[in-house]
Amino acid sequence: MKVGVVGATGEVGRTMVKVLEEKNIDINELRLFASKKSEGKEIKFKDKIYYVEELTEEKMKEKYDYLLFSAGGSVSKKYAPIASEYGNTVIDNSSAFRMVNDIPLVVPEINGDIIKGYRGIIANPNCSTIQMVLALRNVEKELGISEIFVSTYQAVSGAGNKGIKELLDQQNGINNINHFPEIINNNVIPIIGPVLENGFTEEEMKMVNETRKIYDDYGIKVYPTAVRVPVLYGHSESITFRVKKKSTLEDVKKLLSSVDNVVYTDDLVTPINIAGSDITYVSRLRQMDETTFLIWVVADNVRVGAATNAVRILLKHYELNNNKRDE
Ligand SMILES: NC(=O)c1ccc[n+]([C@@H]2O[C@H](COP(=O)([O-])OP(=O)(O)OC[C@H]3O[C@@H](n4cnc5c(N)ncnc54)[C@H](OP(=O)(O)O)[C@@H]3O)[C@@H](O)[C@H]2O)c1
Repeated sequence: MKVGVVGATGEVGRTMVKVLEEKNIDINELRLFASKKSEGKEIKFKDKIYYVEELTEEKMKEKYDYLLFSAGGSVSKKYAPIASEYGNTVIDNSSAFRMVNDIPLVVPEINGDIIKGYRGIIANPNCSTIQMVLALRNVEKELGISEIFVSTYQAVSGAGNKGIKELLDQQNGINNINHFPEIINNNVIPIIGPVLENGFTEEEMKMVNETRKIYDDYGIKVYPTAVRVPVLYGHSESITFRVKKKSTLEDVKKLLSSVDNVVYTDDLVTPINIAGSDITYVSRLRQMDETTFLIWVVADNVRVGAATNAVRILLKHYELNNNKRDE
């Protein structure tokens, strides 16, 4: 198949190329796009060197089986509709289209079936949302969830190459603050993204709105606090959730243990242990009463929260549609 990666030099884009290789996807033409400054950069895929091209409108009008976008919202808003208009299926990592009504917002293990027969832009959810809804997928299905209280501990790689550089620079004594609103080394910052009129940050409202859309349950209440921590890879989440049907610790543990690509463990799980993994880890299940439970969830934000989910969408779409396109 012919696949294009837009934003191929970024944290997520590079990882997408890696995951496409790991999943051994049968790609006979791979095209890599970024901004003009990256033109000619080399990226390896399956032992072959590919050269990064400057992204242009004309290149988006070519025929692709899949285009994976990961170059930020404004690039997606400009180029993804062009690619889609020319019959291409676009899997977009930015927040540009996630809450658009007729654009599917997909975590394949949860709602992958909604892309059967669909062609056009498919939105990949926010990294913090993906690991939370994956962990709670079977609890939501079997018991129903009324409320989720979540605090995140988000890695600097969630802010891309720039976020990683800022932490590493500060660890090396260069105390520039360019990207985060406060020094991040040896610190935690309880603000991620712009603060909205209601006092929540954009990152927090993504968790509220995207969870409802993915579960197709607009009654769920999500109470989020999103926090940046000086970790390179792996977002952690402390989650308290209330279920609609009374349950026991053992039954909830079974539900948490039976989701595809999710592992429940009684071991200690920290971001350092799971960086590079495609699994969402759930641990420290506790019960407060018959409807209130607490868990700790950790996943690699760049993989589970972005690149791997995008490639899983590609595989699901291909499986459901055998990628027939109108010529
Ligand atoms: N990092 C995460 O954990 C994560 C998780 C979920 C979603 N996302 C989303 O994924 C997207 C990319 O994130 P990232 O972390 O990979 O960021 P990043 O490391 O900063 O990479 C950004 C990529 O976009 C490219 N780009 C920027 N402006 C461009 C333009 N005008 N034309 C073409 N390409 C352009 C960059 O190319 P150059 O190198 O040439 O500048 C680079 O390849 C964002 O929308 C982000 O919100 C990220």
